[in-house]
Amino acid sequence: MVAVAVLAAGRGTRMKSSLPKVLHPLGGKSMLERVLDSCALIEPSRYLVIVGYAAEEVKTSLKHWDHVEFVLQEQQLGTGHAVQQLLPALKGSDEDVLILNGDVPLLRQETLQQLLDTHQTNQNAATLLTAQLENPQGYGRVFCDDKNQVQEIIEDRDCTPEQKRNQRINAGVYCLNWQKLAEILPHLSAENDQKEYYLTDVFTSLSPVMAMDVADVKEISGINHRKHLADAYTTLQQRIKDKWLMAGVTLIDPDSITIDETVELSPDVTIEPQTHLRGNTVIASGCRIGPGSMIENSQLGEQVTVFYSVLTDSTVEAGTRIGPYAHLRGQARVGSGCRVGNFVEMKNTQLGEGCNVAHLSYLGDATLGTKVNVGAGTITANYDGVHKHQTHIGNYSKTGSNTVLVAPVRLGDEVTVAAGSVVTEDVPTDALVIARSRQVVKPGWRLNSDE
Ligand code: UD1
Ligand code: MG
Repeated sequence: MVAVAVLAAGRGTRMKSSLPKVLHPLGGKSMLERVLDSCALIEPSRYLVIVGYAAEEVKTSLKHWDHVEFVLQEQQLGTGHAVQQLLPALKGSDEDVLILNGDVPLLRQETLQQLLDTHQTNQNAATLLTAQLENPQGYGRVFCDDKNQVQEIIEDRDCTPEQKRNQRINAGVYCLNWQKLAEILPHLSAENDQKEYYLTDVFTSLSPVMAMDVADVKEISGINHRKHLADAYTTLQQRIKDKWLMAGVTLIDPDSITIDETVELSPDVTIEPQTHLRGNTVIASGCRIGPGSMIENSQLGEQVTVFYSVLTDSTVEAGTRIGPYAHLRGQARVGSGCRVGNFVEMKNTQLGEGCNVAHLSYLGDATLGTKVNVGAGTITANYDGVHKHQTHIGNYSKTGSNTVLVAPVRLGDEVTVAAGSVVTEDVPTDALVIARSRQVVKPGWRLNSDE
């Protein structure tokens, strides 16, 4: 068994942000959550997160992780000092401990499993993840003997020019025998350029310590500033898009598309350029999304098309066509075989099957039955300045162009509303409603005439 400890107490000064570094989002999740996620396969006995800078904010961000234990590092005196704070929590433990930096968010679960297996098979005192980087600048350099035993780790800023040439870097991911580590931890010193207690100093006093090179060096990218974060996002996107391409999704111009890891797609979905899929979005087979669309936390049935539109927190059933320039939000629910067209906004509104809202409408807090035809420019006036009110339109009803439905108002089935009407009162089933002043034509009338 292994306990996991994540170092998440630092501020991350180089991010130049008031948000703690480990809470910076990366593709829909915080970096810290990604680090915790990467441990799933090894099934840790405990998750310990070391918090310090903005500790409450970090704790709150993990409130849905009920099995995480927090350890406070009041002052942030370095990574070694952070791990010293584990001494009371892990007192007497005979487990191994996997220590991860909270700013290394791209690790694969399989890599951590491999690290743990290597550690346990070889009965090492410590095993650490390393990589050979073309540009190792900023990382601690790992010095090994010819048997791949780690002798020393020296931080970039403490390296001589000669030592800086070593391209083998410390990823900040370590498996350690806790009992052996616990003996050394109290004796760390802060004699280095930063005057910090470095975790990396423990390895000179442990033996055997083995280094394991990671095959894909992008996995171990440590995020210290925003450029790193942007590069990590690109890597993550590449992984996500490769996965969907192999699963039968067509991406047209993949570089212009972004997809959160939490999104679920089906085979034969086509995503067109400049389209962004976020949050808990689920898109069924045969849908064609984009170009130029944004879909967030929304569910789309089969064969839906979305063209230059924005959908948030909404549901669209099979065969419906959305756009161009439609905006669905706030639990909009569109039935199957509908058309929601140009410049239509829908908020907290339900459409039954086969409805048409083709042009220039706002439908807010409304419920429409089946096969309702909403004329161009129909507006539900749902807000009286204080409260929002409901509009109901029954099956097979039609509103003429430029209808205003002043809520609360209820139209029965098979109602026809004359164009330009302002409907303020309920209309029974099977009726025509005309709610506008009658046209007056005055023959021969001119400005300044004697009339
Ligand atoms: C660290 C390693 C370096 C390695 C690199 C990999 C040390 C001394 N150096 O450097 O060898 O190549 O990671 O990315 O460990 N933290 C705390 N408390 C503290 C200080 C830091 O919890 O007092 C946390 C930070 O929140 C962060 C992690 O530890 O999540 C690493 O800290 P950071 O300052 O980024 O270390 P690096 O300089 O990147
Ligand atoms: Mg770092």
